[in-house]
Amino acid sequence: MYKRKVDNRWSFKEANTKEFTHCYHTYPAMMIPQIARTLIEEYRPEGKLDLILDPYMGSGTTLVEASLAGINSVGTDLNPLARLMGKVKTIHYNYDSILRQFREIQAELIFYSEEKVIERNFDRISNYSYWYKEKDLLKLSFLSQLIKNVKNKDFFNVALSEVVREVSFTRNSEFKRYRMNEASIAKFNPDTFLLFERKVFRNLEGLKDYNTRNKDCNKVKADIYGFNTMYEIPTNVIKDGDVDMVVTSPPYGDSRTTVAYGQFSRWANEWFNFDNATNLDNLLMGGKKAQKELFKTDSIRNVLNEIDGLDHKRYLEVISFLNDYYQSIENVAKTVRSGGTVCYVVGDRRVKNVQIPLDYFTAEMFEKFGFKHKITIVREIPNKRMPAKTSPTNKVGAKVNTMSHEYIVILNKL
Ligand SMILES: C[S@@+](CC[C@H](N)C(=O)[O-])C[C@H]1O[C@@H](n2cnc3c(N)ncnc32)[C@H](O)[C@@H]1O
Repeated sequence: MYKRKVDNRWSFKEANTKEFTHCYHTYPAMMIPQIARTLIEEYRPEGKLDLILDPYMGSGTTLVEASLAGINSVGTDLNPLARLMGKVKTIHYNYDSILRQFREIQAELIFYSEEKVIERNFDRISNYSYWYKEKDLLKLSFLSQLIKNVKNKDFFNVALSEVVREVSFTRNSEFKRYRMNEASIAKFNPDTFLLFERKVFRNLEGLKDYNTRNKDCNKVKADIYGFNTMYEIPTNVIKDGDVDMVVTSPPYGDSRTTVAYGQFSRWANEWFNFDNATNLDNLLMGGKKAQKELFKTDSIRNVLNEIDGLDHKRYLEVISFLNDYYQSIENVAKTVRSGGTVCYVVGDRRVKNVQIPLDYFTAEMFEKFGFKHKITIVREIPNKRMPAKTSPTNKVGAKVNTMSHEYIVILNKL
């Protein structure tokens, strides 16, 4: 149907996935930078390659790689935390200046006392006393206070964002908000300032490599937006036919039953008082319940029928996501020039133990909008941070693998 080629060269098992600014902040289901890099090198379209689009930018992996390759890029994501990360990771801050600002912050940390904390109102953070010790909230507030006084606030806020989550009582190995048990909380004594300092040092190393590698850096643009490709791609940002290449990894289902981007990001989104902090997962693809299919599919017809036969509610969840995904593909397809290339890295989740070949669906929908499928590369996913097992039947103890492979779907616009 849509040809798949297994190629374990794309597993990048030994690769350092935290090079350059890719080390700045973790994010659920991050794309391995080597995938974006190799796609840009090996599957670049014939002719010009002036603009790369990532319609589900996440932490900005594609944009950083585009920038390293000297190509302008545009990314969009509904998650404000993702936009903050993407912005900071693509900026070539002056290393010495950031170091000086950091020294200023460190100098104040030495003389910390709780009386120095100005902002003591944490009402913007839901249920804050359930999730934090007061002493840690005060330290976080003090860090925010110091960051407000330096020039490149965003650089330091990215480091702070990880700390905001790590000093909360959430179990750090999960993306969802699960509270530690009482025994673990009693023993939990994070060193908030040290965590922050370590992250800044790590990110400074990444910045140094990024600046060294990319000497011509200031000529390359990476523009970041929060528009929703399900509805439209604003023509004042990208005109039809502007884009030469799309490199992206979309979600593979709604956030509630797959990867909880909103829950993972809520700590920082609430801390920084960003928009939609508490309802983000409902806004992402599949967040609103649909009653009927808006697309016509041959490639996954049987799969959808099977799921519907097993559980109509789960079927509706699946099509809610696919409706949104289909509309997004329609809008993305318009922006690509004739001869341009799209590369979608997708997962094959299971629902009620039935595998949904999202790669077929992706290829089929793009073909409806004037593309020709070239190849789908199948890769093993050795270390992608996401739940590897789930209980699709909701039977206690019944678990099957949900994601052990990824599919890189590559098409060209006719
Ligand atoms: C798999 S992640 C992307 C990861 C990214 N490639 C990286 O390396 O970090 C998918 C992203 O899609 C975003 N997303 C979901 N629905 C969206 C929509 N309708 N419009 C824009 N972004 C959306 C989520 O917020 C999430 O950040």
